[in-house]
Amino acid sequence: MGPEGEKHIFNTPTIITAPAGFPHTPLVTKKVSKPFGFLAINLDTEYKPTNLPKKDQKPTTADEKYGNLIKKMEFRDLTKRPMGGNADYMAAWNGKNMDGFKLNFTFAFHGDTGPWHGGKDPHVHINDEALLFVGMDPKRPDYLGAEIEVRMGKEQEVHIFDYPAVIIAPAGFVHCPLITRKVETPYIFSAICLNTEHQTTWLGTGKFPWEQ
Ligand SMILES: [Fe+2]
Repeated sequence: MGPEGEKHIFNTPTIITAPAGFPHTPLVTKKVSKPFGFLAINLDTEYKPTNLPKKDQKPTTADEKYGNLIKKMEFRDLTKRPMGGNADYMAAWNGKNMDGFKLNFTFAFHGDTGPWHGGKDPHVHINDEALLFVGMDPKRPDYLGAEIEVRMGKEQEVHIFDYPAVIIAPAGFVHCPLITRKVETPYIFSAICLNTEHQTTWLGTGKFPWEQ
């Protein structure tokens, strides 16, 4: 991390943040006991890294300067509450204390069927949002393990998918409810929002469309 090449080692789920212009990597996987997932979110329309000249960087032994950019992911256990299709375990991050990070995201494991968000949908955000659905079988990257229904737009157009997918909800676009129709294997869901904090305007009545 940084021009000094400060070295950090971790073995738990972790979020690394790299502000614009901040030199970072190499990343080296030192041990693997089980395949793991890695997601890089770049706050630009295209991935445009600048490769710096290679030089022998000796890790610093002084006090860490960049430890604040490396955070252990804290997952909340949500398995105890009645949830429908909501998350079983969820971690959240936001950029409100990070200059220049117009980003907040959740990262969660889901394993149950039913509607999400307790009937508060549909909803809108003042920011763009991407909703990411990924399976957890590293030998079958095309396999989600679940069948998901989502309603899109004011018209509540119905879409159903059972493969890894990204749903795009531009700022102001009405989206959801989400309904998990089937689950064979728990899957990963990440909501990536281009704003420093999460803000949602719920448009629902507290009842699902089929209850009204
Ligand atoms: Fe949303």
